[in-house]
Amino acid sequence: MDHFQHRNGALFVEDVSVEAIAEAVGTPVYIYSRATLERHAQVFREGLSGVADKHIAYAVKANPNLAVLRVLAKAGYGADVVSGGEMARAVAAGMAPGDVVFSGVGKTRAELVQGLETGIGQFNLELEEEGHVLAALAAERGLNAPAVLRVNPDVDAGTHAKISTGKAENKFGVAIGEAPGIFARLAGKPGIELRGIAVHIGSQLGDLAPLEAAYRRVGEMVATLRAGGHRITHVDLGGGLGVPYRPGETMPSPAAFGQMVARVTVGWNVKLMFEPGRVIAGNAGVLLTRVVWVKPSGGNPWVIVDAAMNDLARPALYDAYHDFVAVRPSGDRIVANIAGPVCESGDTFAKAREIDAVAAGDLAVFRTAGAYGATMASTYNSRAKVPEVLVDGDRFALVSDRIDPAAQMAGETVPDWL
Ligand code: LLP
Repeated sequence: MDHFQHRNGALFVEDVSVEAIAEAVGTPVYIYSRATLERHAQVFREGLSGVADKHIAYAVKANPNLAVLRVLAKAGYGADVVSGGEMARAVAAGMAPGDVVFSGVGKTRAELVQGLETGIGQFNLELEEEGHVLAALAAERGLNAPAVLRVNPDVDAGTHAKISTGKAENKFGVAIGEAPGIFARLAGKPGIELRGIAVHIGSQLGDLAPLEAAYRRVGEMVATLRAGGHRITHVDLGGGLGVPYRPGETMPSPAAFGQMVARVTVGWNVKLMFEPGRVIAGNAGVLLTRVVWVKPSGGNPWVIVDAAMNDLARPALYDAYHDFVAVRPSGDRIVANIAGPVCESGDTFAKAREIDAVAAGDLAVFRTAGAYGATMASTYNSRAKVPEVLVDGDRFALVSDRIDPAAQMAGETVPDWL
């Protein structure tokens, strides 16, 4: 079921008219649907019904808005965090510290201490040295840090190079063959309880085969470590499941993913952990924008909108496709380029795309913008930080303010010696 539907000719999010949100909050603005977030959380969990012992930690980086986190906390999700800031958000939103997993390739000592003092559930180590440092910091405080070692299975995830993480050339994890040596050196050290393995090979995966290959390697490593006398009780299988961005595109369903996981992990006898981000938040949000101009050109017209690459960076960064839909489609279609106002050609959302015919002043949305949208926004070109709205049935709330240039300047200082 889709909670972003046209009704009587205009787009609604659940029971709220998108035009009403534009009127109240202005544009550009991200709009999230609570019902969609909840449904995705439920479908992902149901997909894993064949996995008896599991822990699901929403990847906060996908959308760290406090209201979004609260919805997922209420749905029983924990959090996968990659910074002290995300950790603070997860806890502030109501996630139990024990349900927080701390990933991240460059955790600082201060962040490790924050994790220990917060009492988080698990540290996912990215290198051996991090384990020694964590053990020392925990032992000093009379604590025992629960940890797993992230391995790099050297699998090609078949996704965009910038969001691929499981090849030997990527910065993440330790070479899987090094795991036994690292376990031997870290296991039994005071201050750390090294209890398993983590893996995450990339994001927006449209094929389960690379995931299955990675998980099989992890399964072999679990057996090797156990044969070496180690107690393995937890395996973190990461995130990565793709979502459809283009009309008609299909992706492996959470159910298909869950069946694959259940099949591959038979007999592992561990708690399986998951870190889904995009599959929960991606299709639960849109970026609402207003057309500023339709500018003729020698070729396709340029539809210049009031959202830009600073609000939604994915097209500029990864050539990502976000569907563009008019809030009040006339039924006519045009072939156009879509761009924002920022002063570089990279600020282009689409080239030569067939879209709903729009005119200056019309509203439209970029779809599938709930994940890696607002969280990657900046204020480049001294544009306002884009606001966010959460819809719940027939009500909506501003859940993150527009931070305009005046507020931005308030945080800057011109030294008195200038
Ligand atoms: N776990 C770890 C360790 C991760 O690095 C990531 C994402 C996830 C879980 C969640 O992955 P997901 O289920 O969302 O695919 N900005 C990029 C995506 C970067 C993903 C980074 N890591 C984009 O806009 O496509």
